[in-house]
Amino acid sequence: MDRTKVDQIIHEVVAKYFRKPLIVAGNWKMNMTVREGLDFLEKLGSTEGNVLIFPPYTTLAVLAPEMKKRGILYGPQNFHYEDSGAFTGEISIPMIRELGCSFLLAGHSERRGYYNETDEALGKKVAKGIRSGFQVMLCIGESLEERRSGQWQRRLTEQIALDLRKLEKEELDSVLIAYEPIWAIGTGVSASLEEINETHSFLKMTMREMFGRDLPLLYGGSVNEKNAQEIGSCPYVDGFLIGGASLKPEKFRKIIEVSRGV
Ligand code: PGA
Repeated sequence: MDRTKVDQIIHEVVAKYFRKPLIVAGNWKMNMTVREGLDFLEKLGSTEGNVLIFPPYTTLAVLAPEMKKRGILYGPQNFHYEDSGAFTGEISIPMIRELGCSFLLAGHSERRGYYNETDEALGKKVAKGIRSGFQVMLCIGESLEERRSGQWQRRLTEQIALDLRKLEKEELDSVLIAYEPIWAIGTGVSASLEEINETHSFLKMTMREMFGRDLPLLYGGSVNEKNAQEIGSCPYVDGFLIGGASLKPEKFRKIIEVSRGV
């Protein structure tokens, strides 16, 4: 048996039997007023485990103490790599730090697609976020065309390489990757288990080749309270990044419960 195969088997066994609790992350996108956010947290109640939420900027200051009380980690959906300046409409790390955030979301496909966020800018943002003491959740994902034409491996490898290019080895401790196939986001149809298994195992192997180690790898794209159990059972899935289903407290709570039982 060749080395890669042996390596693969060892990692599958480790992934299966030495799993850490799954991470459950909610991305609220451009949803939730302050009032709605407070109502959501009230209904969600207390949480246990690795739960985090990326609410809209306007709600962060008010929701921060409420999330803290419930053991929820939180952060913004985007941020700038400069500390201050003439960047209308942007927010900076010092503004975020003041609110007690510990996580930053970077590179969501909606930001890449609608606001032309480039791998060039993401390289700077990720490095800035980490050197400022935050954990960064970097989203990567391929389009339907890239998936169908067999270009997905090249695209995902390129995103990881470019977006993390400025980091020193030990800084990788603060990075989590969220794999979100663009064609599965908000469509109600997640990637199939075969696709998730194939892609996550490819990504884990790619990271080991690139960095000599694994990074936590979440799946996102139409995760809900019904499919979370199945998706969470995939050996290389370390958690979920959830859009639509993170807006409903009862659905989000169910996914948190599932994540503890997997
Ligand atoms: P979705 O969104 O769960 O609504 O598909 C996921 C995401 O965009 O992070």
